[in-house]
Amino acid sequence: MCGIVGYIGNKNSSSILIKGLEALEYRGYDSAGIALIDNDKIKVYKEKGRVKEIRNNNDIDIDSHIGIAHTRWATHGMPSKENAHPHLDNSGLFGVVHNGIIENYGELKEFLQNKGYEFKSETDTEVIPNLIHYYYNIKKDVKEAFNMAVSELKGSYAILLISPLIKGIYVAKLSSPLVIGKGCKENFIASDIPAILEYTKEFYFLEDREIALVGDDKITFYNSKLEEINKDIKVIEWDKTAADKNGYDDYMLKEIYDEPRAVKETLAGRIRKDEKINFPNLNITKEQLNTINKIYIVACGTAMHAGLVGKKALEELTNILTIVEVASEFRYNKHIIDHNTLCIFVSQSGETADTIAALKLARDKGAITIAITNVIGSSITREALYTILTHAGPEIAVASTKAYVSQVVALISLAIYFKEIIDDKKELDNLKEQLLELPNLIDKLLDDTTKYQQIAKEIYQEKDIFYIGRGNDYNIALEGSLKLKEISYIHSEAYPAGELKHGPIALIEENTTVFGIITNEDIAEKTFSNLQEVISRGAKVILVSNLEVTNKKMNIINIPQVDNLLAPVVAIIPLQIIAYYIAKEKGIDVDKPRNLAKSVTVE
Ligand code: AGP
Ligand code: GLU
Repeated sequence: MCGIVGYIGNKNSSSILIKGLEALEYRGYDSAGIALIDNDKIKVYKEKGRVKEIRNNNDIDIDSHIGIAHTRWATHGMPSKENAHPHLDNSGLFGVVHNGIIENYGELKEFLQNKGYEFKSETDTEVIPNLIHYYYNIKKDVKEAFNMAVSELKGSYAILLISPLIKGIYVAKLSSPLVIGKGCKENFIASDIPAILEYTKEFYFLEDREIALVGDDKITFYNSKLEEINKDIKVIEWDKTAADKNGYDDYMLKEIYDEPRAVKETLAGRIRKDEKINFPNLNITKEQLNTINKIYIVACGTAMHAGLVGKKALEELTNILTIVEVASEFRYNKHIIDHNTLCIFVSQSGETADTIAALKLARDKGAITIAITNVIGSSITREALYTILTHAGPEIAVASTKAYVSQVVALISLAIYFKEIIDDKKELDNLKEQLLELPNLIDKLLDDTTKYQQIAKEIYQEKDIFYIGRGNDYNIALEGSLKLKEISYIHSEAYPAGELKHGPIALIEENTTVFGIITNEDIAEKTFSNLQEVISRGAKVILVSNLEVTNKKMNIINIPQVDNLLAPVVAIIPLQIIAYYIAKEKGIDVDKPRNLAKSVTVE
């Protein structure tokens, strides 16, 4: 999920590789490493921590002209030197860096272990060099061995392979970014254009399942049947500064555009249309679930809002009472918690002090605890009995966007998983199909954001903005409102639409902006009435809805139709983007809004 760089040519490869890794540092990572071909051997240097640890190692300054490098953002196995990439096969002939997740690594590892291969790391990645070695022993041809190995991999990957047996770097990809930069008697490979923009503006883009052999003078492309194919070169006229965030002005925008991928990764390996949902590391039995009489979801901020959406799914699908609490309050309330209580703690960073304190309290009272987090090895994963990783990839902007959608998707998948355990059968195919379709729907929403930008221009000078909805639409309203206030500094409140008339409607005056959210036909009429009430008092209404609405008094944002449990994942996209463009109009540093920190480690 993090960064890859490869180099072959007449220059010293280590300095180019390290510079490339430094250019990719913005992606966030926990360890780094490089592997160089040195006199028919592969030399590996890797460390937990920053790229500069590698740079400071004097030994790497060897005269090598082929090398691969990696910054890791751990998904399988803690951040550590052993788990850092590159990884070698048992014979030391094949060196690999990998970004992504190998979903079927468990089966492959078992297969290889039965053939006598030993594993030195906890990563999914280590199966790759060993599988290549296994096929090399059969085929005696690196290209065939590489292709046979990668064609067995499920999940997502960008892979680079070096070996003293070849004068080149083999490259493959599936659902992970990878570009090949063409130089003169040298070539470059990277997961992002910025890492190598300094050396070339000419790029090849591999398609999924294609492979390439990158030599110093020649790049050969193959389809999955190993037939040679031609690829067009593309010239990228970016300057270096624009490229730092992969062309996006801010991390927040980049992360919003990363949401389709984030959702895909959250679902990967867990959900397939015609199978039961699978959380391999969750060991909850039917007997245990039958004894659970309530569920708490505890979290802060955006993670708590994801929890509210999770509550809907858990209650609807499992019939178990689910209570959502803000972590900082959880400790002060009396809870009837015992071993029949399941407590789920949601935290992007896995380091939020309030959430961890609540977790310890629940655990001490005997609850079964599950952490849902984005960061492997984070404190929360060490405290909870079980961990579900969201796999959204590093989130750098303070305002959480892709982490939110991945948390929602993880919670809904968990609810389906529980239902299938309780009922002892595979079910909810339609809901699973819709979950798998979410990345495409988000992509479509992100295709054209002109309307959202226009709305931002119209309302960025407002002093107060309100968000209203009922049921899950209220949960969306809460998150839309939080996004707006934290990055635009506009005062904003979210209310259950039916609650307005009990007080807050006093705040509505001529030209107040109110966002209405309607994604559930069953309660649409009631929210429409509430919106009419504010329109009658002079409010300007912007309606986010998946229903066919024609109402000249409202500015309507259409979103795709999905099951109401999933609606927050699509409805939040326009609200995130509008908040982003409002902050831009106001000239605010969206990634680092005032007074806020990405990870809140104090109570
Ligand atoms: C989100 O935009 C916020 N910056 C904030 O509410 C955040 O979600 C909250 O602090 C929880 O963080 P966590 O998910 O890392 O625990
Ligand atoms: N899944 C691999 C690991 O955990 C690669 C992670 C990455 O993309 O950085 O090592």
